[in-house]
Amino acid sequence: MMQVAPSILSADFGNLQHDVEEICNAGCDLVHVDVMDGHFVPNLTIGPVVVSAVAKCATKPLDIHLMVENNTFFVELFAPLQPQYISFHIEEEKHPHRLIQKIRSLGIKPAIVLNPHTPPESVEFLLQDLDMVLLMSVNPGFGGQSFIPSVIEKASRLNEMRNRLNPNCLIEVDGGVSDKNIQSLKDAGVDVVVAGSYVFKHEDRQKAIKSLQI
Ligand code: DX5
Ligand code: ZN
Repeated sequence: MMQVAPSILSADFGNLQHDVEEICNAGCDLVHVDVMDGHFVPNLTIGPVVVSAVAKCATKPLDIHLMVENNTFFVELFAPLQPQYISFHIEEEKHPHRLIQKIRSLGIKPAIVLNPHTPPESVEFLLQDLDMVLLMSVNPGFGGQSFIPSVIEKASRLNEMRNRLNPNCLIEVDGGVSDKNIQSLKDAGVDVVVAGSYVFKHEDRQKAIKSLQI
């Protein structure tokens, strides 16, 4: 079944504990946390003080998505919270293989993120060491943007590659995901979807999560 990771970027930060508990009780699989530094992307979000509060009330594992310039610094900053995954952008890392090893040595599953223009072949020689590849289906930085349809073909190509090289590596898609595109993502071989505005703006968040768990 498709795993669902609601992005708390679209939550009400004045009622963050309530919103995190609600999505966990509603049966989400992971809690997706978007960390932005105002340099790699033109937006600034949350650091370890807020994320540790999220970790305390979340009953599902954290999926931390770094959108930052200095990946190693941020990996060390968030490692004590023991998220299930830390993902970093390949566009911003000179030594991705070294950072994968570092994340794993900290007891966390390593994942790499690809921006919309980055081909799936860029992770071909890293796939055997990865637990997940995250494909952006919007330009990183903001919630509520439109889904970029070319991610479907990219996911299919990545699916063929991971079936050959590392069937245990999951494929995650992030941005503009809703009940309108979930079936084509499933058909392309996607295992995990991130959904921010679709879940948090839905009148029934549990229903929204269930509609993606196909
Ligand atoms: C964008 C973030 C996403 C975002 C998704 O940079 O990585 O996780 O919150 O939000 P929606 O689902 O609204 O596109
Ligand atoms: Zn994200």
